[in-house]
Amino acid sequence: MFGGDGRTYACAMTSVETRPDGASVVRNDRAHVFHSWSAQGLISPIPVAGGEGSWFWDYDGQRYLDFSSQLVNLNIGHQHPRLIAAIQEAAGRLCTVAPSFANADRSEAARLITELAPDDLDMVFFTNGGAEATENAIRMARLHTARHKVLTMYRSYHGATGAAITMTGDPRRWPSEPSAVGMVKFWGPYPYRSAFHSADETEESARSLQHLSDVIMVEGAHTIAAIVLETVVGTNGILVPPPGYLQGVRDLCDQHGIVMICDEVMAGFGRCGEWFAVDHWNIAPDLICFAKGVNSGYVPLGGVVIRQAIADTFKERPYPGGLTYSGHPLACAAAVASITIFKEEGILEHARMLGTDVIGPALRELQERHPSVGDVRGLGVFWAIELVRNRETHEPLVPYNASGEAAAPMNEVVAACKAKGVWPFAHFNRIHVVPPCTISVEDVRLGIAVIDEALELADRHTTG
Ligand SMILES: Cc1ncc(COP(=O)(O)O)c(C=O)c1O
Repeated sequence: MFGGDGRTYACAMTSVETRPDGASVVRNDRAHVFHSWSAQGLISPIPVAGGEGSWFWDYDGQRYLDFSSQLVNLNIGHQHPRLIAAIQEAAGRLCTVAPSFANADRSEAARLITELAPDDLDMVFFTNGGAEATENAIRMARLHTARHKVLTMYRSYHGATGAAITMTGDPRRWPSEPSAVGMVKFWGPYPYRSAFHSADETEESARSLQHLSDVIMVEGAHTIAAIVLETVVGTNGILVPPPGYLQGVRDLCDQHGIVMICDEVMAGFGRCGEWFAVDHWNIAPDLICFAKGVNSGYVPLGGVVIRQAIADTFKERPYPGGLTYSGHPLACAAAVASITIFKEEGILEHARMLGTDVIGPALRELQERHPSVGDVRGLGVFWAIELVRNRETHEPLVPYNASGEAAAPMNEVVAACKAKGVWPFAHFNRIHVVPPCTISVEDVRLGIAVIDEALELADRHTTG
């Protein structure tokens, strides 16, 4: 058998005769791989040769501490041996089966996920990832309520497909406009940059709920199918809702017959130290979107956990949506194994402990010493360091959605981290500390020490 690169590959064997080198991986990548969100001529991806736990490395042996969990999805860490074995075992049984059949891995994954979900969210619609989950969640809500409008936050990301990118509040939406109709944006709580001039979290919670209530009034409650929110806003700032906010949204939804959809694609499955982030506030939405951490992306999987009353809408009437790979056996087997490993290895407890005892205190200490650190916030292994030029005015280190020269101060910090072997997650004027839930305390301290050093570069841009 011959590979496209002309080299001879072993036939019916498990390994290839020649292994790629970093240079050829990059050559083929640059010639043929069209990358997400990128100007294709301006990128130079690092060829990743392998990974283990919280580390990955390139072909030259340069190791990186994965402080971004890849795309904040690798909650269990790289190459967990038990997860690999479960996928291999499932592949040996049955690699794929159409979604119309019943399948043991799929049934068990659904049973386990609904067992973890609150209240009577007892059914799962499986997808391949997060965007398809949010797309299908609003489709369900619209059909269930026979209403059309969907309310989402300005500071949000819900995926890159047609409706999902329209739900998204951040600038990734702009190039896809005009797009799907019926999406209305509102401001969520953000105590550090309050849209409501609130003095504290209590005021922020009350005022942002009043704002949402006003939006519902002027849009017409009877036209609104769903309110979609990230339980803890992820990429757009790790915005932890202040006390009372989620309950307030739940109450507004109940009052007006609106479906409450929590997008936990990033926040779920351990990231916040809970199975579902809503558990932190003891709230039960009507639909929960999940993906990423459900099996750490070892095989792509996402889905919607559905309250029974909404599932019942489609008891006699077909649900008008589906995917060839809905409930893919390998992906579901990986979810079953991952959930089992999380339980048996106490990974949620570890993530929670890292947040309260290690990451939180260490970041607050950085805030004390670095004038560029305006705010630190988060829970579990889901934290943001918000960088500013001026702590009094909160002027961000770089402007909203900065690129090119305007983004240079952030790029310097990121480059300094990478040069010291730490791979950070950066967005706008923030560094997010989002390592795997399984990271050791020593590695957390190592990564934060490197960020500490890199922040000296940000400090140089401060004016007060
Ligand atoms: C909150 C949230 N929703 C949806 C998505 C989209 O998920 P996917 O990239 O798997 O489509 C993401 C991805 O980062 C996300 O963070």
